[in-house]
Amino acid sequence: MNAVSEPASNPESITRGTSGLVLGIESSCDETAAAVVRCGCTTLSNIVASQIATHALFGGVVPELASREHLRNIVPAVRAALAQAGINFQQLDAIAVTNGPGLAGALLVGVTYAKSLAYALGKPLIAVNHLEGHIHAVLLEHAEREQAPEAPILALAVSGGHTHLYLAECTAADPPGTGKTWRYQNVGRTVDDAAGEAFDKVAKLLGLPYPGGPWIDALAPYGNPKAVPFAFAQVKTKIKRRLSPAQPEEETQPRTLFSFSGIKTAVLRYVETHNLRPSIEARQHALAGLPNPQAADALGWCDSQTLDLIASFQHAVVGDLLRKTFRAAEALLVRSLLVTGGVAANRELRARFAAEADARNLAVAFPSRALSTDNAAMIAAAAWPRFLAGDFASPALNADPSLKLG
Ligand code: KG4
Ligand code: ZN
Repeated sequence: MNAVSEPASNPESITRGTSGLVLGIESSCDETAAAVVRCGCTTLSNIVASQIATHALFGGVVPELASREHLRNIVPAVRAALAQAGINFQQLDAIAVTNGPGLAGALLVGVTYAKSLAYALGKPLIAVNHLEGHIHAVLLEHAEREQAPEAPILALAVSGGHTHLYLAECTAADPPGTGKTWRYQNVGRTVDDAAGEAFDKVAKLLGLPYPGGPWIDALAPYGNPKAVPFAFAQVKTKIKRRLSPAQPEEETQPRTLFSFSGIKTAVLRYVETHNLRPSIEARQHALAGLPNPQAADALGWCDSQTLDLIASFQHAVVGDLLRKTFRAAEALLVRSLLVTGGVAANRELRARFAAEADARNLAVAFPSRALSTDNAAMIAAAAWPRFLAGDFASPALNADPSLKLG
């Protein structure tokens, strides 16, 4: 890839004659989020209305409830974002919205609201892929520090719905003088569960609240990560033969494949063979009875065997993500690694990725913990290069639950 090291966002001077104020809207899963970002590099507001309390009762996201909560939250979230930024609707230059991937009904709330707002205000509408948003969470914070990752860049997007590797490339936009264009090539994916999904399912299995990732993160340091030896199946990549010159080259390149459903089953088997059910039920019951359970409460209800299981699970998942990502980075000769998405908030993951990158003389960057999970600042930031290039969505924009990136 012919990538160049340029700032993630364009300087504030190139603004198509506007003040560069983009309203981002995100509603792909269980967070209703709205944010105002100026010129893709200055966050003026970032509001996230979480639905965790609603879904926690069911141990996972209930799509119908998510749509209903988005409907309830979207207007207050947008109003709060404008108020926090100190601007009014007329001052906006564009409305950016996540149009996929995600839950159909949830996406539809954001897309319909954004389309109506753009139409009513006579402002351009910009469609953003949620995964591109996660990559721009890191680029936004680089831009805030006036930095840019050195190319070529490999991005690991690791969340509740995704475990994907992308080569990200920034080139001059066409026509010249309209900023920069980002392009992505998918070079890795999970064949079954996403890593965050494995965190959530294992936590649920162990009687911990939803979403499970932060609970496992908080409890893992109290266990022995080597106590339970989990093994990962090595999923073989099928490399397609190039049948004609018209076939895209990407299709014939090796890909990194992840798989996280096996470890979930291995944890279940461990629970059954070690008779952990009674202690799980006691923990679940105790935590459900607390109005606002904290990690310290959960710790009090975990014996050392459970803590060892939690630590070993996290160590194995992080180890697999690390090994495959660094192997891909080496094969693709990248200079920088971006790790983003909800699971990028995990402390063991950050520490081990940082140490490995250091040992290999590779740059690695994560979003701040606040921008790791779903938010709308990343959507407004990702929209900025499109705004400069005049890449606007049609009023017929629809939600696409299985939208691909790259
Ligand atoms: O990016 P995100 O907010 O939503 C999706 O696009 O899926 O990611 C949510 C996922 C959940 O699976 C959650 O358990 C996981 O990220 N997560 C974590 C941590 N914080 C959130 N996983 C491990 N450690 C964490 N600290
Ligand atoms: Zn996400």
